[in-house]
Amino acid sequence: MSKNLKIPQHIAFIMDGNGRWAQKRGLPRNAGHQRGIKALEKTVDACCKYGIKYVTFYAFSTENWKREKQEIDGIFSLIRDYLNDNPDYFSSKGICVKHIGDLKPFPEDLTSQLIKTEKSTAKNNKIVLTLALNYGGRDEIVRTFNKLLNKKKKVVNYEDISSSLDTHFLPDPDFVIRTSGEKRLSNFMMLQLSYSELYFPKVLWPDFDEKQLVKAIKIYSKRDRRFGGVK
Ligand code: IPE
Ligand code: IPE
Ligand code: MG
Repeated sequence: MSKNLKIPQHIAFIMDGNGRWAQKRGLPRNAGHQRGIKALEKTVDACCKYGIKYVTFYAFSTENWKREKQEIDGIFSLIRDYLNDNPDYFSSKGICVKHIGDLKPFPEDLTSQLIKTEKSTAKNNKIVLTLALNYGGRDEIVRTFNKLLNKKKKVVNYEDISSSLDTHFLPDPDFVIRTSGEKRLSNFMMLQLSYSELYFPKVLWPDFDEKQLVKAIKIYSKRDRRFGGVK
């Protein structure tokens, strides 16, 4: 990779297109999710390789409960197995696992696996891998406002809000990649993406790989971020 590339500190992925990937092959939707987890794993490795410090994956939205129970259960068991399959995997690569989103409605086995993985990887410091699970930007804002009301806050500033968001431990994403060609955010980090660069490649998520990541970083490197100032 060329030396004058700008490496984003935080990349957030909206992993879209698993269903279409499976449909194209006459396979059940869950086969697409299965390949999607493999793509996630490869992408985390590639992000480590290129020195990205924070990587976030939108894995299940507050709106995804509208799907068939069979599909939802399939997604949950894939995530649980990903966290559980190789207990040394995350620590051997220096990956610190975190989550954002409201875990309350999740099955107990998934929640306890996630909490166990978070605890055992808390001290790893090569990369922070955050899974957005039952996450919705609007739901996060509502929960945040209620936290502030419980603290009896009467007036708040943006620092009060951002430090109470689920993402309080993360810098705002520099770069958002949504695969499958859809050009929308679907309730993902509505506040945190205020100044993020957006990229909507056509590739379906299960086909995303290191080559695609490098292409994306090249595109990011050419963006001119101004944050409201002048160049
Ligand atoms: C993204 O792929 C995965 C989740 C939302 C969990 P989709 O399942 O939305 O795939 P498409 O959009 O139907 O192709
Ligand atoms: C966004 O994808 C959510 C995740 C990737 C988890 P969706 O497939 O659910 O979004 P819409 O329905 O196309 O907006
Ligand atoms: Mg989709």
